[in-house]
Amino acid sequence: MEFDKLFDLSGKVAVVTGGGDGIGKAACEVLAAAGASVVVSNLSLEKAESTVDGIVKAGGKAVAVKCDVMNKEDLSNLVSFAVKTYGTINILVNNAGLGGGGRENPFDIDLDYVERIYTINVFAPWQLSKLVAPYMKESGYGSIINITSMSSINNSPAMAIYGSSKAALNHMASNLAFDYGPMGIRVNNVGPGATKTRALSTVLTPEIEAKMLAHTPIKRLGEVSDIAGAVLYFASPVSEWVSGQVLMVNGGGVQTLD
Ligand SMILES: NC(=O)c1ccc[n+]([C@@H]2O[C@H](COP(=O)([O-])OP(=O)(O)OC[C@H]3O[C@@H](n4cnc5c(N)ncnc54)[C@H](O)[C@@H]3O)[C@@H](O)[C@H]2O)c1
Repeated sequence: MEFDKLFDLSGKVAVVTGGGDGIGKAACEVLAAAGASVVVSNLSLEKAESTVDGIVKAGGKAVAVKCDVMNKEDLSNLVSFAVKTYGTINILVNNAGLGGGGRENPFDIDLDYVERIYTINVFAPWQLSKLVAPYMKESGYGSIINITSMSSINNSPAMAIYGSSKAALNHMASNLAFDYGPMGIRVNNVGPGATKTRALSTVLTPEIEAKMLAHTPIKRLGEVSDIAGAVLYFASPVSEWVSGQVLMVNGGGVQTLD
């Protein structure tokens, strides 16, 4: 493959969930910069529109749509909207996710919480993958990328639901890689370590940061661009023989909260 084609996404269509902020926003921006037309979906339409404004100002192609990934109808509407707007779907980034932060004391949380976390972190990525697969197959180019977490492999206090949901997402990806591989669709996960986003800021204290950095060889927290780079790798032709993998992007450490 020619060098300039390795990360070239011209003519490809990407759908990103939770693209209004943080890691999802950075993923939208990098995919657009590589030439993809990006469907920026988010719970808040205003936030999605703000991501789109930035992309369009930078010369890229993007449209905004409201989508609550916990709502099955919204997932179907997202796929229809993307296909109606750009003709197909080649790249799906299942980014929207919730939970963790060391706040899951098993004596405090209830089953409704567990259901919510599994709905957003596991069921929604499963359903969206299923909905986009026929278009990816038909187009001859498909890459599904799930944003998992270091918590999927770490053991930490008060993280059982978030951690296990992200572990399920990892196992789902490595198994779906078998189901979808023969259709020309790759399935991979990117696992951020502690990355500077709004979500992290709600749990980060100087004490927690110090503990995390003690376990991190590259002595800083992650930037959203660090994670978006890994998304670009899995979305691009450079990784066309890579599937079923989980790539931790974490400064080389383990980042447990204990
Ligand atoms: N930031 C970290 O340190 C970190 C570490 C590991 C994993 N992650 C994972 O990265 C992903 C993104 O996290 P982030 O830190 O960028 O979060 P964030 O809160 O900064 O951004 C998340 C975006 O998703 C949107 N969103 C929330 N609920 C939604 C829903 N139901 N439907 C659609 N959109 C919704 C929010 O409006 C927001 O725009 C999540 O899956 C998270 O579990 C983050």
